[in-house]
Amino acid sequence: MNLKGCFKSLAMMAALALPMTAIAAPAPIVIKFSHVVAQHTPKGQSADYFKKIAEERTKGRVKIEVYPNSQLYKDKEEMEALQLGAVQMLAPSLAKFAPLGVKEFEVFDLPFIFDNYQELHKVTQGPVGAKLLKKLEAKGILGLAYWDNGFKVMSANKPLKTPEDFKGQKMRIQSSKVLDTQMRSMGANPQVLAFSEVYQALQTGVVNGTENPPSNLYTQKMHEVQKYVTLSDHGYLGYAVIVNKKFWAGLPADIRTILEGCMKDATKYANDVAKKDNDDALAAVKKSGRSQLITLTPQERAVWKKTMDKAHKEHTARIGADVVKEVYAATGYNPN
Ligand code: LMR
Repeated sequence: MNLKGCFKSLAMMAALALPMTAIAAPAPIVIKFSHVVAQHTPKGQSADYFKKIAEERTKGRVKIEVYPNSQLYKDKEEMEALQLGAVQMLAPSLAKFAPLGVKEFEVFDLPFIFDNYQELHKVTQGPVGAKLLKKLEAKGILGLAYWDNGFKVMSANKPLKTPEDFKGQKMRIQSSKVLDTQMRSMGANPQVLAFSEVYQALQTGVVNGTENPPSNLYTQKMHEVQKYVTLSDHGYLGYAVIVNKKFWAGLPADIRTILEGCMKDATKYANDVAKKDNDDALAAVKKSGRSQLITLTPQERAVWKKTMDKAHKEHTARIGADVVKEVYAATGYNPN
C-alpha cells in the first residue's frame, strides 16, 4: 500500500472508531437528589455518601447530583417535583408525607412513642416500616429506605418547662396534624412553615419557637436566634428515601441492583452517623453560649408526656388504629 492508501485506510478506521467510542461511553444516567437541610447533617452527609459510592460502583454510568439546603425545592415543591419527574430522589422527613395522602407516616410524629433508637429501629427495620413504604407506591413513589435523624429538642426565647410556659407561643411545625395537636395540647399556637423559612421566621418574630433535632437546629443557626433549648427528646424526626417509581423501574437492571446495594450501605452509614451528629451539634450549641440548655426533671418530662398524649388519642383513628397498635407493640408505648 502506498502512503496515500495508508492514510485513507487510517482515516476509514478512525471514522469507524468514532461511533464506537460514542457507543462505548453513553451519557451517564443523572439522578437529582434534592433535600432541604445543610450538608453537614445526618441526611446531608448520607446523601453525599450515597453519591460517592454510587458513582464509584457504577463506574460513572450514573451521576448523582445532590442539591442541599432547599437550593432546588422547598418541602412541598420537592414532593411535587418527584412525582412530576423533575427530580428523581428525595429524603423528606416522615412528618411530610400526609399531604401526599399517606397519613400513616404521622405515626412517627406521635410524641414520646420511641424512647430510643433501638425502639425506633424495631419499626423502621421491621415489617411495619416495610408496610408503610409500600403504601407510597399508589402515589407513583417507591420507598427505598429509612434514614435516621434523631430526637427533638424544643426551643424558644423563654424557658419551656411546663405547659404553662407554652401558652400563646407561636411554634413552627412541619406539615403534620399530629404535631399540630402536640403543640396545641401544650397551649401553643402551631404554625406550619417550610424548613428553609424557619431561621428568618424566628429571627423576625413571625414565630417564637420551634422543634427539631439538634443537628438541624445547629446547622441552620437557629440557636443564634433562640435563647433557650429544652432537651426534651419528646419526639422523633427521621426520613424515608424515596424515588420516582417509573424512573426506578426504567433503570437498566444491573444499574438498579448496584444502586440498591449502595442504598443499603448508605443507610447503614446514615444510621451510624445520626446519633453522633446530634450529640456533636448539641455540644456545639452549648459551646457557642448563644442558647441556654434546659434539662427537664423526670417529673416535668412526665407532665409533657401525659399532656401530649392527646395527639395519640386524637389521631390514632386517622393514622390507622392497626398501624398505631403495631408500633405500640414494637415499642411498648404507655402514656403513664
Ligand atoms: C423540618 O422541616 O424541620 C425537617 O423536616 C427538616 C429535615 O428535613 O430534617
